[in-house]
Amino acid sequence: MVFAPRNTTLLACIIFVALASSPFIFQILRGDTNGNFSTLYDSFEAGVLTATTGARAKFSWDSVPPSDHLVWHDCYTEHQCARLNVPLNYSDPYGEKAIIALTRIPSPLPVGSPWYRGPILFNPGGPGGSGVDLVVQAGKLFSTIVGPQFDVLGFDPRGVGHSVPRVSFFETAAERALWGSVGPHVLDASAGEVARQWARSKVINGLAGERLLNLLPHINTDQTARDMLRITEAHGNEKLQYWGFSYGTVLGATFAAMFPDKIERMIIDGVVDVENYYATLWTNNLLDTDKTMQTFFDGCAEAGPDDCPFYAPTAEDISRNLTNLYNAIRKKPVPVRTKVSYGLVDYNRLRTTIFMSLYTPYATFPALARGLADLAAGDGRLLFEMEEFPPFQCSCDEGPPRIDIVDEAYAAILCNDGVDISESLGDFEKYFKHLTEKSSWGELWSAIRGNCISWPRLPKSHFQGPFTGNTSFPILLIGNTADPVTPLWAAKKVSKGYPGSVVLTQNSPGHSSLTAPSLCTQKYIRRYFTDGTLPDRGTVCEVIKSPFSQITSKTPTDQTPFENNWTSDERDILTAITALSMISRSSAPYPL
Ligand SMILES: *[C@@H]1O[C@H](CO)[C@@H](O)[C@H](O)[C@H]1NC(C)=O
Ligand SMILES: *[C@@H]1O[C@H](CO)[C@@H](O)[C@H](O)[C@H]1NC(C)=O
Ligand SMILES: *[C@@H]1O[C@H](CO)[C@@H](O)[C@H](O)[C@H]1NC(C)=O
Ligand SMILES: *[C@@H]1O[C@H](CO)[C@@H](O)[C@H](O)[C@H]1NC(C)=O
Repeated sequence: MVFAPRNTTLLACIIFVALASSPFIFQILRGDTNGNFSTLYDSFEAGVLTATTGARAKFSWDSVPPSDHLVWHDCYTEHQCARLNVPLNYSDPYGEKAIIALTRIPSPLPVGSPWYRGPILFNPGGPGGSGVDLVVQAGKLFSTIVGPQFDVLGFDPRGVGHSVPRVSFFETAAERALWGSVGPHVLDASAGEVARQWARSKVINGLAGERLLNLLPHINTDQTARDMLRITEAHGNEKLQYWGFSYGTVLGATFAAMFPDKIERMIIDGVVDVENYYATLWTNNLLDTDKTMQTFFDGCAEAGPDDCPFYAPTAEDISRNLTNLYNAIRKKPVPVRTKVSYGLVDYNRLRTTIFMSLYTPYATFPALARGLADLAAGDGRLLFEMEEFPPFQCSCDEGPPRIDIVDEAYAAILCNDGVDISESLGDFEKYFKHLTEKSSWGELWSAIRGNCISWPRLPKSHFQGPFTGNTSFPILLIGNTADPVTPLWAAKKVSKGYPGSVVLTQNSPGHSSLTAPSLCTQKYIRRYFTDGTLPDRGTVCEVIKSPFSQITSKTPTDQTPFENNWTSDERDILTAITALSMISRSSAPYPL
């Protein structure tokens, strides 16, 4: 899902070159740069988030020998790391190996404790997001939520991040930076960008076919589901415990359909219509995007000018002001020079920044309101800085080359998983028209399917449905009422395939339960993992505050009791989910 921290001292250098020479400047800045989360860590209570860039830099995965068994080594700060050999091709178990990178926050219970319940596997989404980075960044917070009985375990799916082999179309970071993003970006039809993306996909996917033809058939969600079973078994367990977000719900639903009797616990959170995903359609993600945007207008009008600098008396006024701003920026981009960087806020940048902020309203709406107000007054700096990228400095030859999440894994997994699509420009133009007629955000979203134009035609023997199963334990699905990319509707649809499963609704904007502070939701999650209790059908969880308010809800309900009634467990859970909801995803290169 949401927040792959990506370190790119190396890329920072390349970007500097690219700035001077490339017409794709914004794609490069947006897609190929990495978030710098150190400022985020500083803003949290010490000890809540444990990862530091220093610890990350010191630890090298090369020091962890791959093994057929799980052998844990201390790594990062309070983490343990292992590298597990798995078959690259499960039909050929003694053939070539892939090596899966794993990181865990071990259960704080003493070894041999009768309360110990084994690992919960996490997937952050993507496709192509790093579970290792997720747990390095936020593992302690997850541990607080699920409880001390469990190990919190992140793994990098095959092809991704610290796992090998990696999917990389490019031979050098320079090559990648100069090419620019394959991630989501605005296709401005009037500027010919639909046709440009078609042409770019032909080039880049031709390259993928040339360079990775032997690897690509093994990079798909089916094989990753098998890896999850292997990881579970390597722990000595028969059945999976899992919490997956966004694309991680595709992975979860796939696992549940392939291995329905191997489920101990499964939460899928921010649910994708898995059939639509495997059909490479990407046509029903945006059902609630405008609803999420509306929560910005409503929240801003309600908050007043002190808490929302883009304030106007009614939500309609604010919406109209934003439309006016779009029109102004289209005609006249705003040049920006900050202390550490420079660039411009053009229409593409403005739309992308706003779209990304919809994923994490609690982390970004107040800053967005300030950025928009400044921008309307001619100052683009704050808005520009909402998308994080490395400072323009070089320290290219420090230490071993970094292993980062690269955009290509995202395209490879989704294009491999999905059915092949038409290579014709006319068909892509029709698709673009269809998507933009359905939603104004279609101009941003249609690039995703566009990535698969002229993708290498490979025989597809991986699992592609049906997505049904009588699971050995009922699945818990979670959907928000105003999720910009995984509408609640999809959670209800996917739930139908898995008898006994329950959809928990969280009444909030944002993508997945992690992006809004609901004590109610997180308590259900903990109970589900610890004693297997599912919420009643139709349960709706409230959040404790709106994105613009700093204080807890003034109108407590059963689900948001007065603060002084909270137990210490509840306080800890609330602290953890509040911290999680404040993490933005401004630089994640993938859509889900
Ligand atoms: C991240 O930003 C902080 C403060 O702006 C800076 O001190 C640090 O060097 C940066 N780290 C990286 C890895 O870019
Ligand atoms: C996987 O292994 C089986 C059995 O050796 C083989 O038939 C199949 O072609 C292999 N799949 C790929 C994608 O190489
Ligand atoms: C926003 O709308 C209000 C009411 O229509 C108007 O008075 C104000 O000038 C607008 N502000 C901006 C920044 O466009
Ligand atoms: C689940 O079990 C029910 C009742 O036994 C059966 O009718 C149904 O076909 C099963 N579904 C799957 C996907 O196995």
